[in-house]
Amino acid sequence: MKAVFPGSFDPITSGHMDVLTRASRIFDTVTVTVMHNARKQGRHLFTLDERLDILRTATEHLDNVGVDSFGGLLVDYMAQEQKGIILRGLRAVSDYEYELQIAHLNRQLGEVETVFIMAATRWSFVSSSMVREIASYGGDIRDMVPRASADALRLKYADVYEERERTSEAVLPDSDSSD
Ligand code: PNS
Repeated sequence: MKAVFPGSFDPITSGHMDVLTRASRIFDTVTVTVMHNARKQGRHLFTLDERLDILRTATEHLDNVGVDSFGGLLVDYMAQEQKGIILRGLRAVSDYEYELQIAHLNRQLGEVETVFIMAATRWSFVSSSMVREIASYGGDIRDMVPRASADALRLKYADVYEERERTSEAVLPDSDSSD
């Protein structure tokens, strides 16, 4: 059975990776597809090409996982590619209402089924938007995202991270100085 894991992935988080890894053990193939979310139009940190690059690096160890993008309706993509079922991750009850709505709409529009996989509880509070916000202030996001996303965020906010490192070096006691 084939599955498509659609999303904005701006950038992919450890929660997404957890769902994807679990799904890769269940489905024959999983395609991670970057799509447009009308609610997030023009508010992306990473370009489509950057998000695809991050995804390819983050998933290269998963043999049955591929990466793709599509600019139209998810149901059209599912029909065009004969991709089987839609896979979505659930972190907490707060995700449920929105996910229920789009799952029902996709079934009504294209008779496509959606399967949900719950992310491990340690990722309940991790979202791409929170990770972007933390990174924009030079905070440590390495635990919340795969290495490829962390490297890309660090590059995007290189000035902020460098400044933060400079100032924290200035306030940290010099470990070599003895009293
Ligand atoms: O990661 P996101 O932003 O929650 O993913 C939402 C996404 C991209 C899967 C959803 O917005 C989507 O399916 N967009 C494609 C357009 C579409 O089919 N819209 C109708 C269903 S809401």
